[in-house]
Parts: sequence; C-alpha cells; structure tokens
Amino acid sequence: MLGKIFTSTTARTFSRQAFQQTRNASTQASKTKLSRGEIALGIASALAGGAAGVQLMNPVHADAAADGLHPAAYPWAQNSPFSTFEHDSIRRGYQVYREVCAACHSLDRIAFRNLVGVSHTEEEAKAMAEECEYTDGPDDQGEMFQRPGKLSDYMPKPYPNEEAARAANGGAYPPDLSLIVKARHGGADYIFSLLTGYVDPPAGVEVREGLNYNPYFPGGAIAMAKNIHDGVVEYEDGTSATASQMAKDVTVFLNWAAEPEHDERKKMGLKAVLILSAMTGLSLWIKRFKWASLKTRKLAYRPPQN
Ligand code: HEC
Repeated sequence: MLGKIFTSTTARTFSRQAFQQTRNASTQASKTKLSRGEIALGIASALAGGAAGVQLMNPVHADAAADGLHPAAYPWAQNSPFSTFEHDSIRRGYQVYREVCAACHSLDRIAFRNLVGVSHTEEEAKAMAEECEYTDGPDDQGEMFQRPGKLSDYMPKPYPNEEAARAANGGAYPPDLSLIVKARHGGADYIFSLLTGYVDPPAGVEVREGLNYNPYFPGGAIAMAKNIHDGVVEYEDGTSATASQMAKDVTVFLNWAAEPEHDERKKMGLKAVLILSAMTGLSLWIKRFKWASLKTRKLAYRPPQN
C-alpha cells in the first residue's frame, strides 16, 4: 500500500516535505520545550518522514539518481594548499584524452604550446601538433589549404559544428571539456565518479534506448556510453592502465586544462603570504621603533616660579 502511494510524484514530494519537517521538528525538540500537541505532530511526521526516508534510501527507487549521486571526496594532490598538480598524471591524462575522449569531445581552450613545460617537452608537443591537419589560408590564389599543426594551434575539434556532433551522438551534445571540471558541481570528484560510475540500472528502472545508466549523472541516464575500460590505452611510462587509473589521469588532465594557472597561482600565493607577513612584521617593528621616543617620553609641567 505504501509502495503504491509513494509511486506518485506528488506523494513523494509530500513525503519529502514531511521528512524535512521531521528534521526541523527534531532539531527544535532538542533546543526548546515542546507542547504535547507539537510532540504528537512530531511523532506523526517522524513516522511519515521515516517512511519517506526509507523510500529515499531505497536503491531500487528511480529517484535515487534524479539529482545525481553525490560523489565521494577523493584525495587529489592538487587539493592540498601547498601541492601542484601531479604532472606525470597530466601527461598520462592527455594520452587518455587524445586516444579516447578526443573522438567526441573538443578541448577548445588548450593549444599544443600549453603542454610545453607542463607535461611534454617542446619537441614532443611540436611532433604531436604536426600529426594533426589544420585548414589554413587563403593562399595567393585565394584557396584554403591543409597544413600540419604548429605549437600555436588549438586542439583539433572532432566535429565541425554542434549539429554534426549531435547527429553523431544520437542527439546528445558532447560538451567541450576545457572548463568541464569548473562547470560541474563536484569538480574533479564528479568527473572521476562519472567516468567510473557506470552500473546496470537497478531493478525497475528503465533506461531509454541509446542512454546508459550512471547514478552520478543528474537524471541517471547519460548519452555517453562507458568508454574507459581496463587497458584501452597503453601508458609509455609503464603505469598499468586500469580503468580507475585512466579515469584519474584524465580527470587530473582536465582539471589542469580548466585552470592551467593553478601551480603558478599557488606559488605566487605562497610568496605573497611569506613576503607580506615579513613586511607586516617589519612595519610593526618600525612603527614601535619610531614611536618609542614619543611613547616613553615624560611630560612635566613646571609652573613659573614667581
Ligand atoms: C563516443 C563519444 C564519446 C566519447 C568517446 C566520450 N564522450 Fe563524454 N560525452 C559524450 C556525449 C554524447 C555526452 C553528452 C551526454 C548527455 O548529455 O547525456 C558526453 C558527456 C560528457 C561529460 C559531461 C557530463 C555532464 O555532467 O554533463 C563529461 C565530463 C564527459 N563526457 C567526459 C568524457 C571523458 C573524460 C571522455 C574520455 C575518457 C569522454 N567523455 C569520452 C560522448 C562521448
């Protein structure tokens, strides 16, 4: 009977409200003295709220992924106030992006020159750029021509425009990944969880043809299929390419892409804090020094003798 009631959306909304009320009521109860009526109301809504709570926690509930499952907080190196990105991870992550994600996702804001000194040497970045073809021109005859990429070129796009991208992906648009870590609630934790979070839909949840169940994606049904499987890339540094390793590396790479200034910013911040605190100490000392004679002098009034 409960099940029947709670399958309707309004009932669910109602039971959520009741749940909220119960929470409010129980917080209040611990702070203030409640009248009998209020306590009875509290108990009644606690029961309703309890049912709602069970309903909300129930894994078979289609609603579980409605707002997206909250990702776990992972210990990213870049989260520490004194740490930079893991640069070997950026390098591996670029490889994952290039070999897997770049088939569908653009990375508009990153040029090959940005990789120099971060994850690749200048020669490596040049060589990678040259592997891509770019349309340039017009030449003397007014014709556009193809040329190999240069360091100043931005990452090549997989599709010429949004329509082409949608047409190739069943109507869904693979977003540009340059700022995706900043553009999604949960940042790196969310991206990592999303990439590794594909599971079979729970019993009773229907996922439309062409969509995939992923509880971290708000709504639960994402057009992107799972594309990180153990061993899809082969790392040159010998790191074993497990799915979670690749997801972590590509997330670090995308995090760097979203804030390439990160390492420099932290270094500047640290310098600023050190220098400014030294200056503060110095200026306090100078102030005391300058005021010392004023503060320690004694003023005495000697009235005229006659
Ligand atoms: C076969 C094409 C394809 C590949 C390969 C692919 N994606 Fe996607 N991706 C998509 C599509 C399509 C969407 C849009 C999904 C939607 O809106 O339902 C998407 C969405 C996303 C999103 C946004 C999710 C959100 O919250 O809106 C992220 C992040 C993402 N992909 C990361 C990646 C990463 C990282 C890789 C490489 C490991 C990758 N994708 C590989 C097609 C692809």
